[in-house]
Amino acid sequence: MTWSKESISVQEQQVQLSLMNSGRMPKHVAVIMDGNGRWAEERGKPRFEGHREGMERVRSTVKTCSKLGVSYLTLYAFSIENWKRPVPEVRFLMSLLESYLVREVDELDANNVRICAIGKINALPKAVQKILQSAMERTKKNDGLTLTLALSYGSRWDIQRAVQVMAMDVRRGKLSPEDLTEQTLASYLQTSGMPDPDLIIRTSGEMRLSNFLLWEAAYAELYVTETLWPEFTEQELYKGLASYVLRERRFGKTSAQVQPESQAQSRSTLERILDALT
Ligand code: IPE
Ligand code: IPE
Ligand code: MG
Repeated sequence: MTWSKESISVQEQQVQLSLMNSGRMPKHVAVIMDGNGRWAEERGKPRFEGHREGMERVRSTVKTCSKLGVSYLTLYAFSIENWKRPVPEVRFLMSLLESYLVREVDELDANNVRICAIGKINALPKAVQKILQSAMERTKKNDGLTLTLALSYGSRWDIQRAVQVMAMDVRRGKLSPEDLTEQTLASYLQTSGMPDPDLIIRTSGEMRLSNFLLWEAAYAELYVTETLWPEFTEQELYKGLASYVLRERRFGKTSAQVQPESQAQSRSTLERILDALT
């Protein structure tokens, strides 16, 4: 199914158009998908039901970001610390990941999505690694949305690993200590080649990064919503994006220095939309 051909309501079309026409859409959106367990517990269901429902929101978030022309979407799906969870929950999450890739790869490929992964991939079960590799291989030439799954991912692990490889390259004479710039370090991280995230969304109200993209998030805008991940619908995503579009990113400068050419028009449209959504 080609997503661009799907029909959506007039109101939704308007929201999408105003976001895209703002000229300020994020290039890279990263999401900490949190709150599956609480969503299930609130309903007297086992935690895995929350993960299952959360998978539907992965599908809709990927689709919407792709339709909106976001270039990079990075989803924190399983942290390196999540291995400490009870074995049955970890097993369930791994099987869910496997079935997501099996079930979705055709549609993702048909919609020009390129699948990538960051994290300690060799720690994943062999079957998951195999399916992941084949999904990445199959979609590697796609030039639409780059969907990066952070799996068994930890930012400190990635930084430590990068520094170790750099040190080995210095020892081998491939690199001199003078070459160790910010850019060099960034190029050794698994996120090399991707722009830094512009917007990091975290669901379920937790005000922390939980070891996600610590280096890359230096100037990311943070959007935390109380909404639990299984309830993070398209409307919730629009709210996050509209909030981002309305912000002023200063990167250390003063407001006067970064004030763009008059965007009063798009600002007021977006403010109205944001009001309607909240
Ligand atoms: C996020 O939901 C999914 C993963 C971390 C894999 P949680 O499972 O952390 O849900 P809560 O935080 O317990 O509600
Ligand atoms: C962060 O959620 C990891 C993912 C969303 C995959 P957690 O639920 O594991 O985070 P903490 O432990 O509450 O910080
Ligand atoms: Mg959690």
